[in-house]
Amino acid sequence: MKRFLFFLAILAPVLGWAAKPSVPEIVPAPRKIEMAKGSFKVKGVSINCDPTFDAATLKLVRQFADKLSLVSGRMSDVASPIGLVKAVESGNTKGLCFIKDASVASEGYKISIGKKAAVVRASDYNGFFYAVQTLKQMLPVSVYGNAPDLKSRWFLPCCEIEDAPRFAYRGILLDCCRHFFSVDEVKKVLDVMSMFKINRFHWHLTEDQGWRIEIDKYPKLTEIGAYRDYTIIKRDLSSSDGTRHGGYYTKAQIRDIVAYAQALGITIIPEVDMPGHMVAALASYPELGCAGSQPQPYKVRTYWGVSKQVLNVGKESTMRFLEDVCDEVADLFPGEYFNIGGDECPKDEWKTDPDCQAKIKELGLVSDEKASAEARLQNYVTARMQKFLATKGKKIIGWDEILEGELTEGATVMSWRGTKGGIKAASMGYDVIMSPNIYCYLDHCQSTDLASEPYCITKTPDRAVPMPKLYGYEPYTGIPESDQHHILGVQGNLWTEFIGTNEYLEYMLLPRLMALSEVQWCQPENKDYDRFIRCLEKKELPILSLLGYNYRTPDELKK
Ligand code: ACM
Repeated sequence: MKRFLFFLAILAPVLGWAAKPSVPEIVPAPRKIEMAKGSFKVKGVSINCDPTFDAATLKLVRQFADKLSLVSGRMSDVASPIGLVKAVESGNTKGLCFIKDASVASEGYKISIGKKAAVVRASDYNGFFYAVQTLKQMLPVSVYGNAPDLKSRWFLPCCEIEDAPRFAYRGILLDCCRHFFSVDEVKKVLDVMSMFKINRFHWHLTEDQGWRIEIDKYPKLTEIGAYRDYTIIKRDLSSSDGTRHGGYYTKAQIRDIVAYAQALGITIIPEVDMPGHMVAALASYPELGCAGSQPQPYKVRTYWGVSKQVLNVGKESTMRFLEDVCDEVADLFPGEYFNIGGDECPKDEWKTDPDCQAKIKELGLVSDEKASAEARLQNYVTARMQKFLATKGKKIIGWDEILEGELTEGATVMSWRGTKGGIKAASMGYDVIMSPNIYCYLDHCQSTDLASEPYCITKTPDRAVPMPKLYGYEPYTGIPESDQHHILGVQGNLWTEFIGTNEYLEYMLLPRLMALSEVQWCQPENKDYDRFIRCLEKKELPILSLLGYNYRTPDELKK
């Protein structure tokens, strides 16, 4: 009997009795995937592109063809034959075909894999890019490597996939100020974001502890502001690690990273945090501050927390400084958004500073039950920068503090102090990006057992963000259906006060980044934590290992 069953098992596929193959381990899970019997050979497959493809899409497909050629050990050619679209429509094609189809949603794609032909359809660059990411996740893990793998079977399972993102804005913030990360380290973050269909990189470039972007008009921002004398150890204000820390990105490096991200389907949104979080700028140009004629009172900050030293926005010269800086920064980033920060700006100095008080008077700002005159002074800064950046073709995003007082129409609010700011902003008609610290702060501890994890910012277990908590986040919670269209998307934030190495950075980012990608991409009914963990075990974590990323092994997979 045993023997009979054994032969049956061997013969079944030959006789066509095989059960439908199981669904491949794709993260984020596609919206719809229907498996069929059989498979499609990609070893040496010829690839046909829509002749109307632009240079970038053609390059994307050629890179995929080169990768398949390398890993499978047999050459794949790329052609753009006239009449391809008609041939595909009449079912007269072989090989792997990439076709432009305006009916497919933005960033979405369709993949139809038969035994003889496989067809990919999308309407834009990101759609094709994401289709390629999905195809790669359906192939042996070695497709991510740089060496031939002649042992694996280079086939794709026959199936029909229809996929599109839930949210248009799918972001990650990286704080390169509290600790500086090199161009290559930033690119490695962009690489892993793109593999999981994350399309916005919020680059935190200015802070109390370091200014990281070259500005031609103000060279001292990087000569002085990019370096701090030392860093405290953990939270001990009397300690020093004895090491000068810093660095910055030149304009050439920024342009290189922007182009690199663009090819990965990622738009970079720069943040110049104002009018607080500016101590590095004040150390470079003390006249921008409220310290009056006191001798140099500023030092690039060596410790964490919120500084009371902020910009003197009562001076016209300070506002011109902000405009000049944003002018140069905006020119480097082609995206439509610019983040002006706006968080954690204590008003202590403004309450006594003569320039700020004169400005408050001049503008007729008053304190009432809704906001103080000083809070309204920050509204003036936000509105003025919004107006200025509009002349550069940019819309502003700011942290949820920008809602305090009055906010001009057209600003987008990033909800970080929980979800209430986002809920309120959406109810007032502002667009919102949800990035609540309780779910989306990737610097928070990954376990409620804090002692079991490396030292980080989290002091109490209730502030931990274990992966299941992040995975379970539902961005529409508390938001009436009528306001939900204001939720542009979701962002995970990786602040780096306690993250001083690339290895630790990746440990905090991965694999929570993949859980975030399902919050951002998947419809709620397509999310399933058990399936997600199985995918990580079988596919995604081996991919990370092959590519040399450090990651935390999820609790569910710890032996
Ligand atoms: C923030 O975490 N201060 C935006």
